[in-house]
Amino acid sequence: TTTEVAIVGAGPAGLMLAHLLQRAGIDSVAIDIRTREEIENTHRAGILEQDSVRLLVDSGVSDRVHRDGYRHDGIELAFGGAGHRIDFQGLVGASTQLYPQTDVFIDLADARVRDGGDVRFGVRDVSVADLTTDRPVMRFTDAEGVAHEVAAKVLVGSDGSRSICRHEFPEALRRQFFREYPFAWFGILCEAPPSSEELIYSHSDRGFALISQRTESLQRMYFQCDPREDVADWSDDRIWEELQSRVGANGYVLKEGAITSRTVLPFRSFVQEPLRHGNLVLAGDAAHTVPPTGAKGLNLALADVRVLAEELERHLRSGAADALDSYAERALQRVWRAQHFSYWMTTMLHRLPDASDFDVRRQVGELTSIVSSTAGSTYLAEGYTGWPS
Ligand code: DHB
Repeated sequence: TTTEVAIVGAGPAGLMLAHLLQRAGIDSVAIDIRTREEIENTHRAGILEQDSVRLLVDSGVSDRVHRDGYRHDGIELAFGGAGHRIDFQGLVGASTQLYPQTDVFIDLADARVRDGGDVRFGVRDVSVADLTTDRPVMRFTDAEGVAHEVAAKVLVGSDGSRSICRHEFPEALRRQFFREYPFAWFGILCEAPPSSEELIYSHSDRGFALISQRTESLQRMYFQCDPREDVADWSDDRIWEELQSRVGANGYVLKEGAITSRTVLPFRSFVQEPLRHGNLVLAGDAAHTVPPTGAKGLNLALADVRVLAEELERHLRSGAADALDSYAERALQRVWRAQHFSYWMTTMLHRLPDASDFDVRRQVGELTSIVSSTAGSTYLAEGYTGWPS
Protein backbone atom coordinates (compact mmCIF):
# COMPACT_ATOMS: atom_id res chain seq x y z
CA THR A 1 0.00 0.00 0.00
CA THR A 2 0.90 3.63 -0.24
CA THR A 3 0.05 6.59 1.94
CA GLU A 4 1.30 10.11 2.43
CA VAL A 5 2.56 9.87 6.00
CA ALA A 6 3.52 6.56 7.67
CA ILE A 7 3.53 6.86 11.46
CA VAL A 8 5.54 4.46 13.62
CA GLY A 9 4.03 4.57 17.11
CA ALA A 10 0.33 5.12 17.87
CA GLY A 11 0.52 6.68 21.31
CA PRO A 12 -0.77 10.21 21.90
CA ALA A 13 1.81 11.80 19.57
CA GLY A 14 1.18 9.46 16.62
CA LEU A 15 -2.58 9.45 16.97
CA MET A 16 -2.87 13.22 17.42
CA LEU A 17 -0.72 13.67 14.33
CA ALA A 18 -2.91 11.27 12.32
CA HIS A 19 -5.99 13.19 13.48
CA LEU A 20 -4.59 16.62 12.55
CA LEU A 21 -3.37 15.33 9.18
CA GLN A 22 -6.76 13.90 8.34
CA ARG A 23 -8.34 17.27 9.07
CA ALA A 24 -5.92 18.76 6.54
CA GLY A 25 -6.91 16.10 4.00
CA ILE A 26 -3.66 14.13 4.34
CA ASP A 27 -3.71 10.31 4.48
CA SER A 28 -1.72 8.36 7.01
CA VAL A 29 -1.19 4.85 8.34
CA ALA A 30 -0.19 4.47 11.99
CA ILE A 31 1.11 1.32 13.67
CA ASP A 32 2.11 0.29 17.18
CA ILE A 33 3.70 -2.86 18.57
CA ARG A 34 1.52 -2.59 21.66
CA THR A 35 -2.14 -3.53 21.71
CA ARG A 36 -4.71 -0.87 22.43
CA GLU A 37 -5.40 -2.54 25.80
CA GLU A 38 -1.73 -2.47 26.78
CA ILE A 39 -1.49 1.25 26.10
CA GLU A 40 -4.75 1.97 27.90
CA ASN A 41 -3.52 0.13 30.97
CA THR A 42 -0.18 1.92 31.31
CA HIS A 43 -0.47 4.69 33.90
CA ARG A 44 1.19 7.90 32.85
CA ALA A 45 1.06 11.53 33.92
CA GLY A 46 -2.13 13.43 34.47
CA ILE A 47 -1.67 17.15 33.85
CA LEU A 48 -2.48 18.97 30.61
CA GLU A 49 -1.28 22.46 29.78
CA GLN A 50 -4.00 24.82 28.67
CA ASP A 51 -2.96 24.65 25.01
CA SER A 52 -3.04 20.83 25.13
CA VAL A 53 -6.65 21.04 26.32
CA ARG A 54 -7.43 23.53 23.58
CA LEU A 55 -5.86 21.31 20.94
CA LEU A 56 -7.96 18.30 22.00
CA VAL A 57 -11.18 20.30 22.00
CA ASP A 58 -10.66 22.67 19.07
CA SER A 59 -9.43 19.94 16.72
CA GLY A 60 -12.55 17.92 17.49
CA VAL A 61 -10.94 14.97 19.28
CA SER A 62 -13.25 15.16 22.26
CA ASP A 63 -14.74 17.49 24.84
CA ARG A 64 -14.50 14.74 27.47
CA VAL A 65 -11.37 16.51 28.75
CA HIS A 66 -13.70 19.24 30.06
CA ARG A 67 -16.45 16.92 31.25
CA ASP A 68 -14.31 14.30 32.99
CA GLY A 69 -11.22 16.36 33.82
CA TYR A 70 -10.68 18.79 36.67
CA ARG A 71 -9.49 22.34 36.22
CA HIS A 72 -6.62 23.36 38.48
CA ASP A 73 -5.91 27.05 38.96
CA GLY A 74 -2.70 26.55 40.94
CA ILE A 75 -0.42 24.17 42.82
CA GLU A 76 0.99 23.97 46.33
CA LEU A 77 4.78 24.18 46.70
CA ALA A 78 5.48 22.69 50.14
CA PHE A 79 8.80 23.14 51.94
CA GLY A 80 10.27 24.36 55.20
CA GLY A 81 7.23 23.32 57.22
CA ALA A 82 4.40 24.85 55.17
CA GLY A 83 2.59 24.95 51.84
CA HIS A 84 2.76 27.96 49.53
CA ARG A 85 0.20 28.33 46.78
CA ILE A 86 1.26 29.29 43.26
CA ASP A 87 -1.83 30.97 41.84
CA PHE A 88 -1.73 30.33 38.09
CA GLN A 89 -4.90 32.26 37.36
CA GLY A 90 -3.82 35.29 39.36
CA LEU A 91 -0.27 35.26 37.96
CA VAL A 92 -0.71 34.36 34.31
CA GLY A 93 -4.46 33.95 33.75
CA ALA A 94 -4.06 30.28 32.89
CA SER A 95 -5.01 26.90 34.34
CA THR A 96 -4.06 23.29 33.85
CA GLN A 97 -6.40 20.34 33.55
CA LEU A 98 -6.09 17.11 35.51
CA TYR A 99 -6.88 14.52 32.86
CA PRO A 100 -4.81 11.33 32.65
CA GLN A 101 -2.74 10.51 29.59
CA THR A 102 -4.55 7.18 29.31
CA ASP A 103 -7.80 9.12 28.77
CA VAL A 104 -6.13 11.33 26.17
CA PHE A 105 -5.08 8.13 24.42
CA ILE A 106 -8.59 6.63 24.60
CA ASP A 107 -10.11 9.82 23.15
CA LEU A 108 -7.57 9.87 20.32
CA ALA A 109 -7.99 6.15 19.54
CA ASP A 110 -11.79 6.54 19.55
CA ALA A 111 -11.48 9.51 17.19
CA ARG A 112 -9.46 7.41 14.73
CA VAL A 113 -12.17 4.72 14.78
CA ARG A 114 -14.93 7.34 14.44
CA ASP A 115 -13.17 9.07 11.53
CA GLY A 116 -12.14 5.86 9.75
CA GLY A 117 -8.39 6.35 10.29
CA ASP A 118 -5.97 3.52 9.49
CA VAL A 119 -4.36 2.48 12.81
CA ARG A 120 -2.98 -1.01 13.49
CA PHE A 121 -2.20 -2.02 17.04
CA GLY A 122 -0.33 -5.13 18.15
CA VAL A 123 1.94 -5.35 15.10
CA ARG A 124 5.47 -6.83 15.13
CA ASP A 125 8.68 -6.91 13.10
CA VAL A 126 8.59 -3.16 12.51
CA SER A 127 11.27 -1.59 10.34
CA VAL A 128 11.76 1.50 8.20
CA ALA A 129 13.94 1.85 5.10
CA ASP A 130 14.90 4.07 2.16
CA LEU A 131 14.75 7.12 4.39
CA THR A 132 16.78 9.40 2.15
CA THR A 133 14.76 8.57 -0.97
CA ASP A 134 11.46 10.19 -1.92
CA ARG A 135 9.70 6.88 -1.29
CA PRO A 136 10.59 5.76 2.24
CA VAL A 137 8.88 2.61 3.48
CA MET A 138 7.53 1.24 6.74
CA ARG A 139 7.32 -2.56 7.11
CA PHE A 140 5.49 -4.59 9.72
CA THR A 141 3.60 -7.80 10.36
CA ASP A 142 0.04 -7.22 11.53
CA ALA A 143 -1.76 -8.92 14.43
CA GLU A 144 -3.06 -11.61 12.04
CA GLY A 145 0.46 -12.45 10.88
CA VAL A 146 0.24 -10.73 7.48
CA ALA A 147 3.35 -8.84 6.37
CA HIS A 148 2.89 -5.31 5.01
CA GLU A 149 5.00 -2.70 3.26
CA VAL A 150 3.68 0.85 3.28
CA ALA A 151 5.37 3.32 0.94
CA ALA A 152 4.99 6.94 2.02
CA LYS A 153 6.26 10.42 1.31
CA VAL A 154 7.30 11.06 4.89
CA LEU A 155 7.85 8.71 7.85
CA VAL A 156 7.25 9.87 11.39
CA GLY A 157 8.92 8.15 14.34
CA SER A 158 6.61 8.74 17.30
CA ASP A 159 7.54 5.39 18.79
CA GLY A 160 8.30 6.48 22.32
CA SER A 161 11.32 6.34 24.57
CA ARG A 162 12.38 2.92 23.21
CA SER A 163 12.18 4.24 19.66
CA ILE A 164 13.55 2.14 16.82
CA CYS A 165 13.28 5.10 14.41
CA ARG A 166 15.72 7.15 16.47
CA HIS A 167 18.43 4.56 15.72
CA GLU A 168 17.97 4.99 11.95
CA PHE A 169 19.79 8.31 12.15
CA PRO A 170 23.42 7.56 11.17
CA GLU A 171 25.68 8.04 14.18
CA ALA A 172 27.80 10.59 12.38
CA LEU A 173 24.73 12.74 11.75
CA ARG A 174 23.13 12.67 15.17
CA ARG A 175 23.85 13.88 18.66
CA GLN A 176 22.35 12.51 21.84
CA PHE A 177 22.13 14.64 24.97
CA PHE A 178 21.66 12.77 28.26
CA ARG A 179 21.26 13.54 31.90
CA GLU A 180 20.83 10.74 34.43
CA TYR A 181 19.52 11.28 37.97
CA PRO A 182 20.46 9.24 41.05
CA PHE A 183 16.79 8.78 42.00
CA ALA A 184 13.44 7.68 40.58
CA TRP A 185 9.76 7.96 41.51
CA PHE A 186 7.70 5.36 43.29
CA GLY A 187 4.18 5.86 41.90
CA ILE A 188 0.95 4.57 43.40
CA LEU A 189 -2.77 4.63 42.76
CA CYS A 190 -4.98 4.38 45.81
CA GLU A 191 -8.67 4.16 46.56
CA ALA A 192 -9.20 7.22 48.71
CA PRO A 193 -10.81 10.65 48.49
CA PRO A 194 -8.54 13.58 47.48
CA SER A 195 -6.29 14.86 50.26
CA SER A 196 -6.05 18.34 48.76
CA GLU A 197 -7.89 20.39 46.14
CA GLU A 198 -4.70 20.98 44.20
CA LEU A 199 -1.45 19.13 43.57
CA ILE A 200 1.18 19.28 46.31
CA TYR A 201 4.86 19.33 45.31
CA SER A 202 6.57 18.62 48.60
CA HIS A 203 10.26 19.09 49.45
CA SER A 204 11.41 17.36 52.66
CA ASP A 205 14.44 15.97 54.43
CA ARG A 206 13.30 12.47 53.45
CA GLY A 207 13.01 13.47 49.81
CA PHE A 208 10.39 14.69 47.39
CA ALA A 209 6.73 13.66 47.30
CA LEU A 210 3.96 14.61 44.88
CA ILE A 211 0.31 14.35 45.78
CA SER A 212 -1.82 14.21 42.66
CA GLN A 213 -5.32 12.96 41.94
CA ARG A 214 -7.44 11.06 39.49
CA THR A 215 -11.10 11.14 40.58
CA GLU A 216 -13.22 11.65 43.69
CA SER A 217 -12.33 8.11 44.79
CA LEU A 218 -8.95 7.37 43.17
CA GLN A 219 -5.70 9.22 43.85
CA ARG A 220 -2.22 9.27 42.30
CA MET A 221 0.84 9.90 44.47
CA TYR A 222 4.58 9.63 44.01
CA PHE A 223 7.65 9.74 46.21
CA GLN A 224 11.31 9.97 45.33
CA CYS A 225 13.07 6.61 45.69
CA ASP A 226 16.23 4.75 44.73
CA PRO A 227 16.15 3.79 41.00
CA ARG A 228 16.73 0.14 42.02
CA GLU A 229 13.85 0.10 44.48
CA ASP A 230 11.80 -3.11 44.34
CA VAL A 231 8.04 -2.53 44.67
CA ALA A 232 7.73 -5.95 46.33
CA ASP A 233 9.54 -4.53 49.38
CA TRP A 234 6.81 -1.96 49.94
CA SER A 235 3.68 -2.88 51.89
CA ASP A 236 0.74 -0.46 51.98
CA ASP A 237 1.70 0.48 55.54
CA ARG A 238 5.28 1.24 54.65
CA ILE A 239 4.21 3.37 51.65
CA TRP A 240 1.77 5.39 53.74
CA GLU A 241 4.33 5.94 56.46
CA GLU A 242 6.80 7.28 53.90
CA LEU A 243 4.28 9.54 52.17
CA GLN A 244 2.79 10.84 55.44
CA SER A 245 6.17 11.68 56.87
CA ARG A 246 7.26 13.58 53.75
CA VAL A 247 4.15 15.75 53.48
CA GLY A 248 3.60 15.81 57.25
CA ALA A 249 6.85 17.75 57.57
CA ASN A 250 5.05 20.52 55.68
CA GLY A 251 1.79 20.30 57.61
CA TYR A 252 -0.33 18.01 55.42
CA VAL A 253 -2.16 14.81 56.35
CA LEU A 254 -3.10 12.36 53.59
CA LYS A 255 -6.34 10.40 53.40
CA GLU A 256 -5.29 6.77 53.07
CA GLY A 257 -6.87 3.88 51.20
CA ALA A 258 -6.07 0.58 49.51
CA ILE A 259 -3.11 0.86 47.13
CA THR A 260 -4.07 -0.69 43.78
CA SER A 261 -0.96 -0.04 41.72
CA ARG A 262 2.71 0.51 42.47
CA THR A 263 5.54 1.14 40.00
CA VAL A 264 9.01 2.64 39.89
CA LEU A 265 9.22 5.27 37.15
CA PRO A 266 12.40 5.88 35.18
CA PHE A 267 13.94 9.29 35.50
CA ARG A 268 16.14 10.95 32.93
CA SER A 269 16.57 13.80 30.50
CA PHE A 270 17.29 13.02 26.87
CA VAL A 271 17.27 14.76 23.48
CA GLN A 272 18.36 13.51 20.08
CA GLU A 273 19.24 16.08 17.44
CA PRO A 274 18.45 16.73 14.70
CA LEU A 275 14.80 15.66 14.52
CA ARG A 276 15.01 15.01 10.79
CA HIS A 277 17.01 12.61 8.65
CA GLY A 278 15.96 12.56 4.99
CA ASN A 279 12.25 11.88 5.00
CA LEU A 280 12.12 10.56 8.56
CA VAL A 281 11.22 12.91 11.41
CA LEU A 282 11.00 12.19 15.14
CA ALA A 283 8.30 13.45 17.51
CA GLY A 284 7.45 13.02 21.18
CA ASP A 285 9.41 10.70 23.47
CA ALA A 286 11.24 9.16 20.50
CA ALA A 287 13.06 12.48 20.20
CA HIS A 288 13.18 13.56 23.82
CA THR A 289 12.45 12.43 27.35
CA VAL A 290 11.97 14.68 30.35
CA PRO A 291 11.94 13.68 34.02
CA PRO A 292 8.32 13.60 35.23
CA THR A 293 8.46 16.58 37.66
CA GLY A 294 6.14 19.16 36.11
CA ALA A 295 4.39 16.70 33.77
CA LYS A 296 5.85 18.07 30.54
CA GLY A 297 6.25 14.81 28.55
CA LEU A 298 2.78 14.42 27.05
CA ASN A 299 2.36 18.17 26.59
CA LEU A 300 5.63 18.36 24.70
CA ALA A 301 4.61 15.46 22.45
CA LEU A 302 1.33 17.20 21.61
CA ALA A 303 3.15 20.49 20.94
CA ASP A 304 5.56 18.64 18.60
CA VAL A 305 2.82 17.15 16.46
CA ARG A 306 0.82 20.35 16.27
CA VAL A 307 3.83 22.01 14.64
CA LEU A 308 4.61 18.89 12.62
CA ALA A 309 1.10 18.70 11.16
CA GLU A 310 1.39 22.33 10.01
CA GLU A 311 4.80 21.78 8.44
CA LEU A 312 3.80 18.48 6.81
CA GLU A 313 0.88 20.27 5.20
CA ARG A 314 3.28 22.90 3.79
CA HIS A 315 5.64 20.16 2.66
CA LEU A 316 3.04 17.94 1.00
CA ARG A 317 0.63 20.55 -0.34
CA SER A 318 2.88 23.50 -1.25
CA GLY A 319 6.13 21.58 -1.76
CA ALA A 320 7.87 23.83 0.77
CA ALA A 321 11.47 22.59 0.71
CA ASP A 322 12.25 23.92 4.19
CA ALA A 323 9.20 22.50 5.98
CA LEU A 324 10.75 19.44 7.64
CA ASP A 325 13.76 21.41 8.87
CA SER A 326 11.46 24.16 10.01
CA TYR A 327 9.55 21.59 12.09
CA ALA A 328 12.80 20.44 13.68
CA GLU A 329 13.87 23.96 14.51
CA ARG A 330 10.54 25.12 15.90
CA ALA A 331 10.00 21.97 17.95
CA LEU A 332 13.50 22.00 19.44
CA GLN A 333 13.07 25.49 20.87
CA ARG A 334 10.18 24.32 23.00
CA VAL A 335 11.91 21.00 23.75
CA TRP A 336 14.90 22.73 25.33
CA ARG A 337 12.72 25.12 27.31
CA ALA A 338 10.81 22.12 28.65
CA GLN A 339 14.09 20.28 29.30
CA HIS A 340 15.21 23.17 31.44
CA PHE A 341 11.87 23.51 33.23
CA SER A 342 11.71 19.78 34.09
CA TYR A 343 15.34 19.72 35.19
CA TRP A 344 14.82 22.84 37.28
CA MET A 345 11.69 21.57 39.03
CA THR A 346 13.46 18.24 39.61
CA THR A 347 16.68 19.63 41.05
CA MET A 348 14.90 22.23 43.17
CA LEU A 349 12.65 19.67 44.85
CA HIS A 350 14.55 16.36 45.09
CA ARG A 351 17.15 15.35 47.60
CA LEU A 352 20.43 14.10 46.16
CA PRO A 353 21.67 10.95 47.94
CA ASP A 354 24.86 12.76 48.93
CA ALA A 355 23.25 16.14 49.63
CA SER A 356 25.10 18.31 52.14
CA ASP A 357 23.27 20.55 54.59
CA PHE A 358 24.36 23.44 52.39
CA ASP A 359 22.61 21.87 49.38
CA VAL A 360 19.36 21.45 51.28
CA ARG A 361 19.40 25.00 52.73
CA ARG A 362 20.18 26.36 49.27
CA GLN A 363 17.13 24.53 47.83
CA VAL A 364 14.93 26.05 50.53
CA GLY A 365 16.43 29.43 49.68
CA GLU A 366 15.52 28.93 46.04
CA LEU A 367 11.98 27.79 46.85
CA THR A 368 11.57 30.78 49.17
CA SER A 369 12.66 33.10 46.36
CA ILE A 370 10.10 31.55 44.01
CA VAL A 371 7.13 31.85 46.38
CA SER A 372 8.00 35.28 47.78
CA SER A 373 8.65 36.94 44.44
CA THR A 374 5.90 37.69 41.91
CA ALA A 375 8.53 37.40 39.19
CA GLY A 376 9.66 34.01 40.51
CA SER A 377 6.14 32.63 40.90
CA THR A 378 5.17 33.94 37.48
CA TYR A 379 8.14 32.20 35.90
CA LEU A 380 7.02 28.90 37.40
CA ALA A 381 3.38 29.49 36.47
CA GLU A 382 4.25 30.30 32.85
CA GLY A 383 6.30 27.15 32.45
CA TYR A 384 3.85 24.90 34.26
CA THR A 385 0.74 26.03 32.40
CA GLY A 386 2.68 26.02 29.12
CA TRP A 387 4.37 28.67 27.01
CA PRO A 388 2.40 29.98 24.04
CA SER A 389 3.45 28.36 20.75
C1 DHB B 1 1.23 13.90 37.67
C2 DHB B 1 2.49 13.57 37.25
C3 DHB B 1 3.49 14.51 37.25
O1 DHB B 1 4.73 14.18 36.83
C4 DHB B 1 3.26 15.80 37.68
O2 DHB B 1 4.26 16.70 37.70
C5 DHB B 1 2.00 16.13 38.10
C6 DHB B 1 0.98 15.19 38.10
C7 DHB B 1 0.15 12.89 37.69
O3 DHB B 1 0.38 11.75 37.29
O4 DHB B 1 -0.97 13.21 38.11
